[in-house]
Amino acid sequence: MASVVIVGTQWGDEGKGKIVDLLTRSADYVVRFQGGNNAGHTLVVNKQQYIFHIIPSGILYEDKKCMIGNGVIIDPAILLEEIASLAEKGLPVTPERLMISENAHLIMEYHRRLDQAQEASLSKEKKIGTTGRGIGPCYVDKVGRTGIKIGDLLDEGSLREKLAASLDEKNFLLKQKYREEPVSFEVVLANMLAYAEKLAPFVGNVSVELDKARKRGENILFEGAQGTQLDIDHGTYPFVTSSNTVAGNACNGSGFGPTHIDSVIGILKAYTTRVGEGPFPTELHDQTGEALQRKGGEFGATTGRKRRCGWLDGVVATDAVRLNGLTGLAITKLDVLSGQSKIKMATSYQLGDRSLNAMPSNIRDAARVKPVYEELAGWQSEINEVTAYEDLPVEAKDYVKRIEDFTGVEAVIVSVGPDRDETLLLKDPFDR
Ligand code: GDP
Ligand code: IMO
Ligand code: MG
Repeated sequence: MASVVIVGTQWGDEGKGKIVDLLTRSADYVVRFQGGNNAGHTLVVNKQQYIFHIIPSGILYEDKKCMIGNGVIIDPAILLEEIASLAEKGLPVTPERLMISENAHLIMEYHRRLDQAQEASLSKEKKIGTTGRGIGPCYVDKVGRTGIKIGDLLDEGSLREKLAASLDEKNFLLKQKYREEPVSFEVVLANMLAYAEKLAPFVGNVSVELDKARKRGENILFEGAQGTQLDIDHGTYPFVTSSNTVAGNACNGSGFGPTHIDSVIGILKAYTTRVGEGPFPTELHDQTGEALQRKGGEFGATTGRKRRCGWLDGVVATDAVRLNGLTGLAITKLDVLSGQSKIKMATSYQLGDRSLNAMPSNIRDAARVKPVYEELAGWQSEINEVTAYEDLPVEAKDYVKRIEDFTGVEAVIVSVGPDRDETLLLKDPFDR
């Protein structure tokens, strides 16, 4: 048995969903532990595309159990839509296949409204470019001890009390600060009670369930959302999301003890993308950037926004190795680099006369650093149909080798296309 954590190493959208789906083959449980429906995880199986925002990416395997941990925040309408859409595709999501932690907090209508109103009120330089899904305001309430948990849905008296107290403040903000319409107590309450009825059978103690699974010797896969540079503590603050995205939070966000984690796989896109605002040292504002955007189909899976694109950033990768304790890398979208005559990778930053090997914590410095590049030879042939690592063009293998040498972490997976089958699995992290 083994417990494996999957995290994004960059600014999200590295291909976590695809890799989680692939590794679910060897897992018994798949667990989301942070974030909410700001995430958009794409899986392609036999050319059919699925995008999950809240349900763990292991859900396509009917014999596996999916868990939504306490660290996740849940928009119940979105969760129920995902359940309904899977049922339409002939994949019923039953309480035997999905458990939601009673301690997971709820994203309410006023969280979404405040997220959008706050963003709209900010100047161009200050905007975060959030997904507008209510993520920040919901986590603010959780940490401020005024949040509403999914467990509260099962107790109408407590729900009424908490909702009334919350709306008192939120409607003051909406009306007085943002000059917006208030949120109706009766409407929110009625919606929540309707959701409660549908969600109640799924609610349980995820921590206890995972502990039992571990003791039975089952394999557990933890599915991170977002990426290391979006971490609330370690990312490019304030241009980050509102949760800890690093591997340590797999434990906090699910109630699983840290001594039971066996390995941590970092998903590393072979180049870099970022959606939303904030520093991005290796961003390309030229034709190469546009070519990567086009060939990589780089549009947000949640908001449809165009993703900013640039070369691979070794400094960002090094940060991810350290912050997550990575034991393996899954290098994704290598196929997108096919056709480039030269490929660049940043190996350090220059800030004035200083050389840096980590992202500076000062956001102004992070926006000013200049990447120092190393240049590698590209390859011309398409590689989507390659099924054995040895058959990759020598330049592609050299690039993978250079990433391994630079980060000091071995590549366990190389992905050459969006489909489940377009993957070179070099070492299954569940094999011990
Ligand atoms: P996630 O948020 O980390 O799960 O990533 P997203 O799903 O938001 O974005 C990754 C995108 O790249 C999706 O459209 C995937 O289908 C696609 N993808 C994943 N791996 C590969 C790959 O190796 N090659 C190509 N071309 N596309 C990939
Ligand atoms: P997955 O799991 C990429 C970004 C937003 C914005 C910032 C804050 O698919 O990799 P938020 O709505 O979280 O308050 O927005 O974080 N962001 C993501 N970018 N992938 C994601 O998730 C993201 N989730 C949030 O674009 O810049
Ligand atoms: Mg995504």
